[in-house]
Amino acid sequence: MAQSVFAGKRIVIGVCGSIAAFKVAGWVSELAKEEALVSVVMTASAREFITPLTFAALSGNDVHTGMFDAGKEDVMAHINIGRDADVILVAPATANLMARLAIGMADDLLTTTLLASRAGVLICPAMNPRMYDHPATRRNLRTLKELGYVIIDPESGMMACKEEGEGRLAEWDTVREYLAKSLSAQDLQGQRVLVTAGPTREPLDPARFLSNRSSGKMGYALARAAFRRGAEVILVSGPTTLPCPPGVTREMVQTALEMRERVLAHAEGCSVIVKAAAVADYRPETLHEHKVKKENIEKELVLEKNPDILFELGKQKKSGQVLVGFAAESKNLAEEGLKKLRKKNLDLIAVNDIGGDRTGFEAETNQLLLISRSGTETLPFTSKAHTADLLWDRIVALL
Ligand SMILES: Cc1cc2nc3c(=O)[nH]c(=O)nc-3n(C[C@H](O)[C@H](O)[C@H](O)COP(=O)(O)O)c2cc1C
Repeated sequence: MAQSVFAGKRIVIGVCGSIAAFKVAGWVSELAKEEALVSVVMTASAREFITPLTFAALSGNDVHTGMFDAGKEDVMAHINIGRDADVILVAPATANLMARLAIGMADDLLTTTLLASRAGVLICPAMNPRMYDHPATRRNLRTLKELGYVIIDPESGMMACKEEGEGRLAEWDTVREYLAKSLSAQDLQGQRVLVTAGPTREPLDPARFLSNRSSGKMGYALARAAFRRGAEVILVSGPTTLPCPPGVTREMVQTALEMRERVLAHAEGCSVIVKAAAVADYRPETLHEHKVKKENIEKELVLEKNPDILFELGKQKKSGQVLVGFAAESKNLAEEGLKKLRKKNLDLIAVNDIGGDRTGFEAETNQLLLISRSGTETLPFTSKAHTADLLWDRIVALL
């Protein structure tokens, strides 16, 4: 499996005085497990909520608290902490911290570190919804964005104060992706990519449908990786329970016809299209408005062919656009893949071996056979996340 993007990276985490501070202890633990070098800086208010000892134990490093604790800490800590940082994460960021940062104050170790560093800074606001919605907070957020800080928007939901609204600290999965993005090569920057994923469902009646074993995991991993590498990502997804990858715009569809409509609507404006969805080849000719009673079900099902979306995309491909298809095969992988590459005018085809249970449908791992105009390559057997990155490496080379 691939090494974590966080391994060996110097990540400074600034913790402020919010009830959400305890959640960040879990994040520090996750990053330390992935071998990141985590340094925590706490505001005085943060220490009212959680002790430095917790962060020291979880990060394995001393926690920085006071600017004037000479002797106890490095005298020039306010300069040194941020100087070698690969990225700084402020989480939870209070309204107070954002106000101080927006006007360039340096009145404690955290704000001084932020001013003295040239590392990228991610800010995760967390506060009561009315505090978050206050015009002063909104203005400070705008200023911080203008200054180049990346704001990871808080989520909506029930707050610790028992109020509903926007202001809840972003989830770790989202923050993790933004952190990973800040540490990754942005070789898809400026590219708009369209990824399709999952199966389609072709209904017979309101209760029954025809579908296939696609879980969407490969397509979702591709969308996630493209966001990390700087792309603007549109994901058209068939039914799956997978959560939308952070930073990705997702449109859910059910049938092949719906998928075709959404894909063709976006295709023109995308420089890369990766069709990882397993679109049903056929749909029932008749869609019953009401559930068909058991005793009335016909023994033979009459099917109608669905449109071949990939074929249509290949026909209307613009110059410079990269079109990547997937094929699910259980035998003659190379021959079948090459046939599809040519017939559908693709730049690259990734052939999934669906013969076993460790590759292809539903599995967490995969091993793709890649066929392009210039040759054939078998990727290593690895996680779908790593496979996605290897596939993007090949696509970037084609751009
Ligand atoms: C129980 C409690 C919870 C608080 N939670 C938040 C919060 O989630 N977000 C926030 O902006 N302020 C919150 N505050 C207020 C801040 O702690 C206060 O504005 C403080 O000055 C922030 O200091 P700092 O920005 O230096 O950490 C809370 C205060 C208390 C007493």
